Amino acid sequence: MSIIHNNGCFKLDTKNTTYSFQITKFGFLMHTHYGAKISDVDLAHVYPLARNRSFINAPAEDTEMVLNINDVPQEYSAFGIGDFRTTALRVRHNDGSRAADLRYQSFEIIKGAAKPEALPGATENGEEGIETLKITLKDTATELYVNMYYTVYEKCDVITRFNEIVNKCDTPVFVEKAASLQLDLFHREYDLVQFEGRWAQERHMKRSALSSGTQGFVSRKGTSSHQHSPFFCLCEKDTNEKAGGVYGFHLVYSGNHRTEVEVAQFDNPRVLMGINDEGFAWKLENADKFTTPQVLMTYSASGFGKMSNSFHAFIRNHIFRPKWKNVRRPLLINNWEATYFDFDQQKLIDLASTASKLGIELLVMDDGWFGHREDDKTSLGDWTPYKKRLPNGLKPLAEGINATGLKFGIWMEPEMISEDSELYRAHPDWVLSIPGRGRSLGRNQYVLDLVNDEVREYVFGAISDVLSSANIEYLKWDMNRYLTEVYSATLSADRQGEAYHRYVLAVYDILDRIITKFPNLLIEHCSGGGGRFDTGMLYYSPQIWTSDDTDAVERIDIQYGTSFGFPVTSMGSHVSAVPNHQTGRVTSMDMRANVAFSGTFGYELDINKLTNEEREMIKAQTAFYKEHYNLINFGDYYRLAHNDTFSAWSFVSGDKKEVLVFYVQKEGGPNGSDVFVKLDGIDPGACYKDAQTGEALYGNTLKNVGLCVPITQGERKTMCKYLKV
Ligand code: DGJ
Repeated sequence: MSIIHNNGCFKLDTKNTTYSFQITKFGFLMHTHYGAKISDVDLAHVYPLARNRSFINAPAEDTEMVLNINDVPQEYSAFGIGDFRTTALRVRHNDGSRAADLRYQSFEIIKGAAKPEALPGATENGEEGIETLKITLKDTATELYVNMYYTVYEKCDVITRFNEIVNKCDTPVFVEKAASLQLDLFHREYDLVQFEGRWAQERHMKRSALSSGTQGFVSRKGTSSHQHSPFFCLCEKDTNEKAGGVYGFHLVYSGNHRTEVEVAQFDNPRVLMGINDEGFAWKLENADKFTTPQVLMTYSASGFGKMSNSFHAFIRNHIFRPKWKNVRRPLLINNWEATYFDFDQQKLIDLASTASKLGIELLVMDDGWFGHREDDKTSLGDWTPYKKRLPNGLKPLAEGINATGLKFGIWMEPEMISEDSELYRAHPDWVLSIPGRGRSLGRNQYVLDLVNDEVREYVFGAISDVLSSANIEYLKWDMNRYLTEVYSATLSADRQGEAYHRYVLAVYDILDRIITKFPNLLIEHCSGGGGRFDTGMLYYSPQIWTSDDTDAVERIDIQYGTSFGFPVTSMGSHVSAVPNHQTGRVTSMDMRANVAFSGTFGYELDINKLTNEEREMIKAQTAFYKEHYNLINFGDYYRLAHNDTFSAWSFVSGDKKEVLVFYVQKEGGPNGSDVFVKLDGIDPGACYKDAQTGEALYGNTLKNVGLCVPITQGERKTMCKYLKV
């Protein structure tokens, strides 16, 4: 049993962690612990409730003023009754008041996992023994309820949470803020680790000590954004890859998000994560409920490595659909950086035919195949083949590609519309826009108002028609601008605060219906690279294009940061041409492959322009990737070293008998020092054999002394070693 209830105390245990809370005086739900596993169920003896402080705020019935609402660590607290910290819930009642006084009402232990309705989330995916705790809180003065769902994934050391705000009042209630997670901690000695960036530089790790007041990050872009991933960690001061306490949190959501860590007056941090409340207000009529997105939480007492591996396994096993759970996906070539808009049917078939000889399995036709799209100024919304490039449509192209032995995949950007399109000429009102205001352009395009059912049906129909028109086995779903003028003509004035979230729900709805209708379709998500790289999208598409930056050196930092929260198997990662199109940097073919191997591997260059020698290298690379597919995609991942000069990482099989180590020097330079890469996660008692040299290497030597990488002058050095017991 992973959920224990005893006399008003709740204890949620995973293999290595405990999460606990209990009902305290006057029915407040007091958080008591999240961290390494403990035995106590009742922790009342640890927390003094009454503190002799001035300026306290006691609940209305506490005439002796024993309890300070502003002191109690709470599971879910609301604005308006004396908790002056940032709160999880803010509601506006019909009389204009903004308050809710949430007290414990009931609990239920449910067999199996709970997932928020109409939103992505973790599922059992065939695993037994998963349990959910449902707790109901009630506002003392009204019929407003909060249902909190905690699902315990014992084996993975992960607990998921989400909440429902239920209005049983006779009058409407506006939910102005409803976090998915509130976690009150007990001291401030933590660092906040966030993953920030911008287009082509996504998810760079940034670690900073918590300071007094509120810190955190948001997205206001309508997507989870290139700038701030909805994933972060809180770690102890001395936490490193192998040691120290660290919490990890994912918001399973692809829209505006907010993470706040407030270090309040008594040095007690409060963590909130959920939908960004800026511009948000959700109207609940009587009997309506609002469901928050889900949060995934894990705690590791042994450093970032364990935290990452817990999330990697969890996402692979419980976020990916069963169809893609631990399944090999095709090795692809994408024509974007090979041709941009300059292609036709024959050019693609020529690419596929060379690709098939090199071990590549799927050709993805990128942007430019529809309407009359010569550049990024036209045709979005007109999802019919461009006669100039594909005179006979998609079917003969797919057949031609299939005849080379490759699968065929296609690019679409379904949420968008160009002003120069048949769709816009017919439906200028289908754009997300505010009447009387100008329409902001992003990459020369507008965003469709998916809140409007008619528009949503059109988009679903357009994707369906494309996918049904030929043997299309893969869809790259792109999204190349942020949301502005977020207003839907189909919503009443008092519901415009719902538009951002309704947009995200509409995207999820379309994705859901597409994968139901085309169950074998593989979707790769993309948003100008990694602008919507989140666990919400991973529920529908097990791979996401990590970044538009394909430069191997740049990718090291991007993939390093991404790996903290996301499994390698979710990161689209391609070998592209040199000089690199984003940075102009020249790196060796080996280095480009060694970086791209750590992801959903593929190519994005004109292989017909390569030398025979380069093509032979590709043949060897695809064979290598296929041979080690399981180890890379399903093995444990270790960040071994990462600094300004070099980076090293490895994959270790579950039985520790196979190890794949990568080393990449970021910059070449004169007169460097040799590097010793100490391996992690291996069996120290085993003797490994270097597959290339046949050399025998003891596990304890690899762990404690390391692999020596002698530095050569000049060129960036790269190394890949496969070791096997
Ligand atoms: C942005 C994507 O990230 C690229 O890979 C490519 O698909 C372009 N869009 C096409 O317009």
